[in-house]
Amino acid sequence: MTPSARVQAAIEILDEVIASAVADGPPADAIVSRYFKTRRYAGSKDRRAVRELVFGAIRRSGERPVSGRAAMAGLSTDEPELAALFDGSAHGPGPITDDEERAGASVIPEWLMAELSPLVTADNWPALLVRAPLDLRCNIASTTCEAMLEAFEGAVPTPMSPWGIRLPSDSKVDDSQAFLNGLVEVQDEGSQLIAFACQPRDGIRIVDLCAGAGGKSLALAAAAPVAEILACDTNRARLANLPPRAERAGAKIDIRLLDGGREAQQLADWEGQADVVLVDAPCSGSGTWRRNPEGRWRLTPARLGRLAALQARLLEIAAPLVKPGGSLVYAVCSILQREGAGQISAFLGRHSSWKVQEALPFGRRDGDGRLLTPGQDGTDGFFVARLERSC
Ligand SMILES: C[S@@+](CC[C@H](N)C(=O)[O-])C[C@H]1O[C@@H](n2cnc3c(N)ncnc32)[C@H](O)[C@@H]1O
Repeated sequence: MTPSARVQAAIEILDEVIASAVADGPPADAIVSRYFKTRRYAGSKDRRAVRELVFGAIRRSGERPVSGRAAMAGLSTDEPELAALFDGSAHGPGPITDDEERAGASVIPEWLMAELSPLVTADNWPALLVRAPLDLRCNIASTTCEAMLEAFEGAVPTPMSPWGIRLPSDSKVDDSQAFLNGLVEVQDEGSQLIAFACQPRDGIRIVDLCAGAGGKSLALAAAAPVAEILACDTNRARLANLPPRAERAGAKIDIRLLDGGREAQQLADWEGQADVVLVDAPCSGSGTWRRNPEGRWRLTPARLGRLAALQARLLEIAAPLVKPGGSLVYAVCSILQREGAGQISAFLGRHSSWKVQEALPFGRRDGDGRLLTPGQDGTDGFFVARLERSC
C-alpha cells in the first residue's frame, strides 16, 4: 500500500469506529481486524501502520469526530507529514479542506469533565491514554510468581499486586506453555487488586455478582482454592467463557445465570450467607480508556444515567446476600465520581447498618473508597470500596 492508501484505509476504518460508537457496536480493535480480513493485499507492515494511524486519531480526539476524514485531518495537525498524504492520488484521500483543519486535541469530552473524580486533575489526564503494559496474574494455586518471572522474558513484578508480573505491551502470551497450562491469566494489576480487596481465604463463601467472563472469580479461586465461589451474570455469552478458563486453571467455581429483574429471587438461597459479595458493576469503562480510547465517544449523559441506576440496583441486590459481619466489595473500572464514591455515599445514606472498611493499602482515598489511576498507580482506573454489614 502507498502511504496515501494507508491514510485512506485509516479514514474508512475510523468511519466504522465512529458509527460503532453511536450504535454501541464492536470496539475499534475488532473493526481493524475485520477490515483487513477482506483485504489480503495489505501486508503486516501496512496493517501495523494503519492501526497506528487509527489509534493515533482516536487518542487525540476526546469528542467524537464527525467523520473519519475529520479525525485524520485532526491528527495531521500534529503530524504535518500526514497532511501531505491527502494528495488525491489513486487510492489516497483528497486534499484537506479549510473546514476540516484545526480540530483541537482533547483528552476528556467536555461534558464529562464535571463528572470526574476530584482526584483526576488535568495533570492526570495524559496518562489516561498512554498505552497500557501487559499484566499477567500468576495462578498461585499452581505456580509462583518467581517461576513465571523466569518463564517470560522481560517480566518484572507488578509493584502492588502480590500475584502479578508485568511484560512489555506488545508481548505475546496466548501461545506460551505457561498460559496454555493455566499458570497465568492476562489481567491488569488494578483488576487483580479488586480481587485482593475481597481478602480471599480458604473456607469462606463468596458471591461474584457481576462475574462476566470470570476474571475476578478466577483470581479469587487461585488465591483461595478451598473457598466456595458463586459466579453470576445476566449475560449468558460472557459467563460461558468462565468454565473453560476455570478448567484450564484447575479452579472450582459455581456458576449461575441470572435474569435481569429476577436476580433477588434467584439468589434467595444465598440470603445472609456470603462472607463476601463482590459487585464488579457495569460502568462507563472510563478507567480503561488507555485500552479503548474510543470508549470516550460511546458514553452519553443518558447512558451514564442508566449505568448509575443499574449500579445502585446491583448494590441493593448484593446487600442482603452478605451475612452479618461479612463484607460487600464494590468496584467499577471508572474514574467518574457518580459511579464510584458517589454511589457508595448514596448506599450508606440508604443503609445505616453498614460500616466502611479499608479496601486497599494502595491507591488514593476517594470518599469512602480507593481510587487507582493510570497516572498515579500505573493501573487501569478503578474505584473500590469495602463495606461491612454490622447486623
Ligand atoms: C465490569 S463487567 C464484569 C467483569 C468481570 N467481573 C471480570 O472481572 O472480568 C460487569 C458485568 O455485569 C453484568 N451485569 C449487568 N447487569 C447485571 C445484573 N443485573 N446482574 C448481574 N450481572 C449483571 C454484565 O453482563 C457484565 O458482564
